[in-house]
Amino acid sequence: MGRTSKDKRDIFYRLAKQQGWRARSAFKLLQAEETFHLLDGVTRAVDLCAAPGSWSQVLSKHMYEPRTPEEREQVKIIAVDMQGMAPIDGVKQLRADITKESTAKEIIEYFGGQKAQLVISDGAPDVTGQHDRDAYMQGQLLLAALSIATYILEEGGSFVGKVYRAGDISSVYAQFQRFFKDVCLFKPSASRNSSIEAFVVARQFNLPDGHIPCNLITEWYNQPTEWLKPITQEPKQINLPFVAYKGDLDADRTYELDEDYKYEEAVQKPLTAAYQDVLKKTREVSIKYNSIKIIHSEVDNANQT
Ligand SMILES: C[S@@+](CC[C@H](N)C(=O)[O-])C[C@H]1O[C@@H](n2cnc3c(N)ncnc32)[C@H](O)[C@@H]1O
Repeated sequence: MGRTSKDKRDIFYRLAKQQGWRARSAFKLLQAEETFHLLDGVTRAVDLCAAPGSWSQVLSKHMYEPRTPEEREQVKIIAVDMQGMAPIDGVKQLRADITKESTAKEIIEYFGGQKAQLVISDGAPDVTGQHDRDAYMQGQLLLAALSIATYILEEGGSFVGKVYRAGDISSVYAQFQRFFKDVCLFKPSASRNSSIEAFVVARQFNLPDGHIPCNLITEWYNQPTEWLKPITQEPKQINLPFVAYKGDLDADRTYELDEDYKYEEAVQKPLTAAYQDVLKKTREVSIKYNSIKIIHSEVDNANQT
């Protein structure tokens, strides 16, 4: 397969490079913005699981670039990820794990007493291929993002977060319905139909009376008993309203390359990758015992002795 093959198979991958986005995921947020106008008037936003940074680029383009130098001083965008990413204008970076309470505290510190109007999370755990396990891990990451939102989101604020529609995701939806007046599922056309990926779009945040922000996964016991019932008992299936973005381009289709097509490299290669630690450890491992002899056949065996 040549290097142009992915450009044919994935129109959003090709367009991302042409338009200067670091990842094709940019189109998912752009399509959410076109549908829900979540960025209108927003000056404070949190991008969780942000690397390599295409969603932060979208935030910067809408919230920072169009403003005057004085207005830009009011803009606060923070991008959080365990991996490093190249700088983006107007975006403060925090290298941290979103499942840790200390991360929520660092974000709050950055906002210096103010709250965010928007929290977005495109987080994905390392996929194992075991669908139920992957969906469960994704659900937990989404709950971690919601937990951070309960600390930092202002009344009336919005949230967008990636979800895998599989397994028992209803208990996660139930949590969103507690904190937001309006919750739906969004499927951008940049997300393949064949993928179980979708996005929870939650609007009109409202911290219920008596709720003290906490980690909703590890400190579930802090929640009132009547809230825990639908989570701990056999949960009812919750079907959220479903909104699909119908664009002209189909993420599952192969598009021929135009005559004036020119191959372009990725806009920004990842600075660090999750597998780097593993590679480093492999290089450091030394074999302490006698080397292993590989014997290919009885004849080889006989020749060697
Ligand atoms: C699909 S990528 C995000 C793409 C990004 N939205 C963009 O547009 O460029 C998923 C990211 O989630 C991050 N991630 C996964 N688990 C995390 C965690 N517990 N804390 C912080 N980041 C995490 C990974 O490091 C990875 O960079």
